[in-house]
Amino acid sequence: MKFFIDTANLNEIRAAYELGILDGVTTNPSLIAKEGIKGREAFRNHIKTICEIVQGPVSAEAISTRMEEIVTEARDLASIDPNVVVKIPMTREGLRAVKVLAEENIKTNVTLIFTPIQAIIAAKAGATYVSPFVGRLDDISSHGMAVIKDIVEIFANYMFDTEVIVASIRHPMHVLEAARLGADIATIPFGVIEKLIQHPLTDVGLKNFLEDWKKVE
Ligand code: E4P
Repeated sequence: MKFFIDTANLNEIRAAYELGILDGVTTNPSLIAKEGIKGREAFRNHIKTICEIVQGPVSAEAISTRMEEIVTEARDLASIDPNVVVKIPMTREGLRAVKVLAEENIKTNVTLIFTPIQAIIAAKAGATYVSPFVGRLDDISSHGMAVIKDIVEIFANYMFDTEVIVASIRHPMHVLEAARLGADIATIPFGVIEKLIQHPLTDVGLKNFLEDWKKVE
């Protein structure tokens, strides 16, 4: 399973990349706004900087809502770097844009997916990636991981090339379950990546080893 980091924070991206586990980055308008980025040019420059840090797919979201405008925006975003993937919300206009962009070999990540049916539709339109949001489903007492299970099974049934990005991850168990289900990618907030490393028994064990080593020295 590939690990993407779900952030626009450059320090977090650098720190995760240095761990040697990072395959890509996903951003969205909320994550960009959180970094205090103002204006289109600053946004483009920020995406460019991320692409310089990580040699892998970097999702940048289109904010247009009409097909023609999404396509124009996507072409511009894709021109920033060959690794840019254009994130497009799961709407009728978005799907029409995905079809056009697929024909131009511009990679797309269809976002805000909440059902297996939406994922099938996005894959059929030619999406490179789909992003089902597990945490937001769990938040409303739905079973986010059940959606992942269905999508992974369906994509395997029909040998869709579209890759499944498990998004809206809230905790390490989401990552574990995504791996068990055979999802292609998990996009993980930095705080959760840190939790993947830690275990209290590791900390206690290391403390004891270091104390015992003092008897050897
Ligand atoms: C990723 O592509 C999504 O933008 C992100 O995972 C959403 O996560 P959230 O539900 O924590 O905002």
